[in-house]
Amino acid sequence: MSQNGLRPAVVVTGATSGIGRAMAKVAARERRIVVLIGRSPERLDLVAGEVREQGGEPVVLNLDLLAQDATRRVQDFLLEQRLVCDILVNSAGLGFQGLSASNPVDAQLAVIDLNARALVELSLALIPAMVARRGGGVINLGSVAGMIPGPQMAVYYASKSFVASFSQALYQELRPTGVTVTCAVPGPVETEFLEGRGIKQLPIFTSLPALSAEEVAESAWQGFKKGRRLVVPGLASKIAAAAISIMPLRFALPLIDALQRRNNDKCPCGSGKKFRNCCGSAPRRRWPSKSVLPKSRKRAGDQASPS
Ligand SMILES: NC(=O)c1ccc[n+]([C@@H]2O[C@H](COP(=O)([O-])OP(=O)(O)OC[C@H]3O[C@@H](n4cnc5c(N)ncnc54)[C@H](OP(=O)(O)O)[C@@H]3O)[C@@H](O)[C@H]2O)c1
Repeated sequence: MSQNGLRPAVVVTGATSGIGRAMAKVAARERRIVVLIGRSPERLDLVAGEVREQGGEPVVLNLDLLAQDATRRVQDFLLEQRLVCDILVNSAGLGFQGLSASNPVDAQLAVIDLNARALVELSLALIPAMVARRGGGVINLGSVAGMIPGPQMAVYYASKSFVASFSQALYQELRPTGVTVTCAVPGPVETEFLEGRGIKQLPIFTSLPALSAEEVAESAWQGFKKGRRLVVPGLASKIAAAAISIMPLRFALPLIDALQRRNNDKCPCGSGKKFRNCCGSAPRRRWPSKSVLPKSRKRAGDQASPS
């Protein structure tokens, strides 16, 4: 029990499924109090049973993290339960596949709201108490996707890039305080996330081996306990991360574009045709091309001396 009578707990978002659920069970093995956050009461009850089986003490909070007052409700709930967050696991996350410009904006903004805004808000609300106790920390679920721009999943990749950047900067800021921030960056993981919007059928996911949620959770938890800033679980993810870091973007972007593409996407130009039969089939344009430059500008360019 901590000095002010509050009991330390592991708070897990996205606890009803996949990696969050596995993280909750890993924490439970250490006989900890685990606060499970998710939107489905039935699933929360199911995971609570699993946490109990592992030796942990589950506490359930049914909450939509996209609600305006979500962070305040987490804080109020912890106080009501006489708990203080020792370790925060930000696993709740959403993906979105498709051409950004021809898909609903709201659905893509929800990805940013959950993957980035909610993660930042909750972290910044709960970290001060960790700093005051000079311990604990945050485990954020990033992704190998955050290491590169991802055409066809542009907002998701960008949100994961944000998570990695934010987490690692925070790690450095908090180093002297005894609070650890670890960002786990897995490649494909066998969870419901891959089922959403047919993501699992995309060539990029069928061509890479997927880890289990349990492997990722174990690796993230152990990495956190060792004070690691970044954890890349599994050999395939490590190889993918290394390849991404050295491949020039002019090769990587078209490759990822092709591997994440679905052929029935509508063209963003508004023609109503499929992208691949419309603008997607046009040769790559350089602009302004030499042939369309006015003669006077061409001549001026010819005369200009290289600087
Ligand atoms: N699976 C992969 O291939 C993979 C790879 C790299 C990184 N990741 C990242 O790992 C994290 C976990 O993903 P996963 O694979 O475990 O996905 P998942 O099985 O789909 O789980 C997502 C979790 O997020 C919760 N969630 C979604 N919207 C929410 C909301 N508005 N409020 C509260 N909770 C919400 C869901 O709970 P409810 O539906 O009950 O609310 C669920 O528990 C994500 O951040 C993901 O980006 C996944």
